[in-house]
Amino acid sequence: MKTDNHTNDFYIREISAKETYAVRHPVLREGRPIEDCQFTDDELETTIHLGLYVDEKLIGIATFLKNCNMQFSEEKQYQLRGMAILKTFQGQQFGEHLLRYGEHLLKEKHIARIWFNARETAVRFYQKNEYQTVGQPFEIDKVGTHYVMTKVL
Ligand SMILES: CC(C)(COP(=O)(O)OP(=O)(O)OC[C@H]1O[C@@H](n2cnc3c(N)ncnc32)[C@H](O)[C@@H]1OP(=O)(O)O)[C@@H](O)C(=O)NCCC(=O)NCCS
Repeated sequence: MKTDNHTNDFYIREISAKETYAVRHPVLREGRPIEDCQFTDDELETTIHLGLYVDEKLIGIATFLKNCNMQFSEEKQYQLRGMAILKTFQGQQFGEHLLRYGEHLLKEKHIARIWFNARETAVRFYQKNEYQTVGQPFEIDKVGTHYVMTKVL
């Protein structure tokens, strides 16, 4: 696994919901119809889609939705969904850069907490980025075991 991305030029910008499909489909909905890439509230004005580009190619995505989890007391919460890096670009810290960028953006909007349902296989990635699991694992149909994870910004 490559761990050094210093030679890779990249940038992050806001993108549309539809643009995320180029990464959502192969990474998060592999072998499923393209319609399965659509998330509820994708098109809301409060929803933020971020894209990470390497050599002008979209290789990473993350979606932040205004959505409160009643387990948490903060009034201003956002949910992270659809965080993914194209397979050949994984393990090169692009995910970390994208996540940090999103956190910074939400902090500027005075959002107090981020939470999400993390795939079991991604838990270590989020823990490395100072997120904590809350409660017991649970199953999401067709996707697998998940944990609620969260961080106070
Ligand atoms: C999880 C994911 C977004 C992380 O992005 P990334 O750019 O690969 O991660 P980074 O390079 O910033 O961080 C690497 C760390 O993430 C963890 N990790 C999780 N899945 C990994 C993967 N498939 N490849 C490499 N590292 C992975 C490792 O713990 C790694 O730490 P290490 O270097 O100490 O082993 C990305 O691997 C991915 O898209 N995975 C498949 C889709 C997915 O599970 N999305 C999350 C849904 S909740």
